[in-house]
Amino acid sequence: MSNLAVVGTQWGDEGKGKIIDLLSEKADIIARYQGGNNAGHTVRVEDEEFVFHLIPSGILHPGKKCLIGNGVVIDLKSLLGEISYLKGKGVEFKDNFLIAENAHLTMPYHKILDKIIDESRGKGKLGTTGRGIGTTYIDKSARVGIRVADLLDEETFREKLEINLEEKNYLLEKFYNLEKVNRESILEEYLSYGRQIENYVCNVSLYLNRALDEGKKVLFEGAQGALLDIDFGTYPYVTSSNPIAGAASTGLGIGPTKIEEVLGVVKAYTTRVGEGPFPTQFSSEFEEGMRMRGREYGATTGRPRRCGWFDAVLVRHAVRVNGLDSLAVTKLDVLDELEKVKICVGYRYEGELLEEFPSLLKAVRNCQPVYEEMEGWKEDTSQIRDYDKLPLKAKEYLQRITELVHADVSLISVGPGRKQTIVLKNLMQ
Ligand code: GDP
Ligand code: IMO
Ligand code: MG
Repeated sequence: MSNLAVVGTQWGDEGKGKIIDLLSEKADIIARYQGGNNAGHTVRVEDEEFVFHLIPSGILHPGKKCLIGNGVVIDLKSLLGEISYLKGKGVEFKDNFLIAENAHLTMPYHKILDKIIDESRGKGKLGTTGRGIGTTYIDKSARVGIRVADLLDEETFREKLEINLEEKNYLLEKFYNLEKVNRESILEEYLSYGRQIENYVCNVSLYLNRALDEGKKVLFEGAQGALLDIDFGTYPYVTSSNPIAGAASTGLGIGPTKIEEVLGVVKAYTTRVGEGPFPTQFSSEFEEGMRMRGREYGATTGRPRRCGWFDAVLVRHAVRVNGLDSLAVTKLDVLDELEKVKICVGYRYEGELLEEFPSLLKAVRNCQPVYEEMEGWKEDTSQIRDYDKLPLKAKEYLQRITELVHADVSLISVGPGRKQTIVLKNLMQ
């Protein structure tokens, strides 16, 4: 099983960046398949921290190819900023980085509209990252989007921009009372971006299929998490793409049979950034303590993350919709000091016990979580590298999670560093 998809199983920020960095060593190719620069993946290498938004963290490993697939929406300003940030830290960009010619571009009006649309929802706002993600995917589905290949052909780009600006400027000016965006400055800015990325652009689907035929090992990198999935998440409090593993096929142009194994990254507790229901969220004083211990602040927007107990109902749902083979449990060390730990095993709603995650948002919002309480282990786990050396109570906690969510654990992360990992099963063999 050499081709592996790594996905988030909660509301994002599970620690995918760390796990992908770790597994990149074993891969030839690391390919991102959905989302955009709403993602923030943090990787710690010795004392240095790297934050990735669009570029797969595999880029830190010399000799590996990193691909951005057609399913990703690309803000070129942000991408070029990320490339120069990484180059500034000594990372090389040569023939190790490729961008799909059929990926859609996030344009300046997408960002303005994303922010104003969310603001105008008032109390019902989703709390998006304001990066123009939803509005870019809207245009993709409406079949008016601008793709990378369009930008590289000046005539097509001018035509498509013209058509888009007619509608977008009308909306901005007449509906939202905002200033129009300027066609000439966008043209100039984007044509320059086009020249800067040209050498990275290719038919990623073709490239990847050929590489797979040659037996190259591929790591498929997911962003966000199952509960932010537009179909299986807490709709409408979701992102506008499918973070689940199946989307690696459509987001890269490979057959689903090529995804041989799926690893779900799961925090030992739960966090969420942005609005939307969160059944196991802590009370505010307790939440603040956990936020400090886990350094739970968004890597993209800096917003404090909401924190809560481990929710086995939602992770079981994530295991199912992703077809997960195993789990990488992260941030176990953050629970080290707790007297008691709790796991949510069901939701009580309108007198019934729900054991499976409901699609009705009202049920997620109004349910009462049913908890099992266990004793904490009250021991520092951050230096442990061997499963047998984990405190018994920590092992019992992990064991109970695997029973409840129906998936085994293959990795345990006990700190942000590469070495702070306990390996139970060798992946990508
Ligand atoms: P991602 O979006 O899923 O890649 O996750 P983020 O990078 O947004 O958030 C995870 C944060 O937790 C990052 O700051 C990581 O450095 C950190 N982290 C990852 N694994 C661990 C762990 O096992 N323990 C601790 N304490 N921090 C971790
Ligand atoms: P990574 O890859 C956590 C959340 C936003 C908001 C909702 C919709 O780092 O795990 P969007 O801008 O996508 O339209 O916002 O989704 N969100 C994330 N939360 N981690 C992420 O990515 C996220 N990407 C989007 O906070 O609630
Ligand atoms: Mg993140």
